[in-house]
Amino acid sequence: MPRAAFAALGTFVPDRVVTNEELTRRMETSDAWIQERTGIRERRWVREGTENSDLAFEATKRALDKAGWKASDIEAIIYASLSPDHMFPGDGCFLNAKLGIPGVPALDVRNQCSGFLYGLSVADAWIRAGVYRRVLLVGSEIHSTGLDVSTRGRDVAVIFGDGAGAALLEATDEPGRGVLSVHLHADGRYAKELWTDAPGSKYHPRVQVAHIESGAIYPHMEGQKVFKHAISKMPEVVRAALDRNGLTTKDLKVLVPHQANLRIAQMVQRSLELEDAQVFNNIQKYGNTTAGSIPIALAEAVEERGVKRGDLVGLCAFGAGFTWGSALVRW
Ligand code: UT7
Repeated sequence: MPRAAFAALGTFVPDRVVTNEELTRRMETSDAWIQERTGIRERRWVREGTENSDLAFEATKRALDKAGWKASDIEAIIYASLSPDHMFPGDGCFLNAKLGIPGVPALDVRNQCSGFLYGLSVADAWIRAGVYRRVLLVGSEIHSTGLDVSTRGRDVAVIFGDGAGAALLEATDEPGRGVLSVHLHADGRYAKELWTDAPGSKYHPRVQVAHIESGAIYPHMEGQKVFKHAISKMPEVVRAALDRNGLTTKDLKVLVPHQANLRIAQMVQRSLELEDAQVFNNIQKYGNTTAGSIPIALAEAVEERGVKRGDLVGLCAFGAGFTWGSALVRW
């Protein structure tokens, strides 16, 4: 049975750097608070008029160049995002048009920080089942246009950034290579601990002046609750993946955790007793790019940690839903 292997990764972040210092001019916060509580030094925000699918398109072009593929080599698109260009259709279709590949199917994934892992699970299943042999999986996010950048929204606004990562997945028959397993979970009892209430189809019209005034159009998060669950669920689901494959933490070349908060990643590292060299973080530069975070960090980890054929790479995520998951990939 073939497995999904990473043929190439590409990333794209907007060129506009927003430092912590810039945020202090918009809300009551400080560089010291943000760095101490989250590890973030700066993030990228798009310029007005940029579309989520533009970021995904640029990331995809870079991945195609690296893999030596043409857009027409892509047999299916999976697009993970919580911040699509429009209510519908999903950004998979807009990306399909930008890539100039009419007819190629496009699936949209709505699983927030775990979106890339949910998408990877589908791509791997398609490839194992022989449905497609070459799949584009993108995680892309524009948070900056949806943040409350006043003091009211500071707990959330300082965390999130914009960016996209694209992975080209191809069928491999090489023994041992590729995605070994993906493990997914959700617990909807906590759906409103991290969510955006409006616009929503339960409202008529879907967004109202009252939503704007009350801040219901902005993401709301019970930060400490999310934090507590994240630091227990991520190590648990990484251990489950290792156990399933008869592997241990010692076998990991690198673990790339979803970049939600540097303190969360450090606690996951401690809980799994991993060395510094075994965990990759880049939240310092980009903040939390949600569905974009794993592919952006994975691309940098592969370059900076010299990941080579045969190395074991772990991925894990936790976020809104709550949803969480892990994946193990033999590079
Ligand atoms: O990717 C999706 C998943 N998301 C996450 O995993 C995020 C998980 N949660 C977190 O990362 C953290 O909870 C935060 C970074 C959001 C907040 O850090 P915290 O250490 O949990 O702070 P807190 O919410 O308990 O707030 C502590 C204090 C409060 O003031 P008082 O009540 O003690 O006077 C907040 O009002 O910090 C205040 N505060 C801020 N101060 C300066 C909250 N946000 C800020 C801010 N600047 N940006």
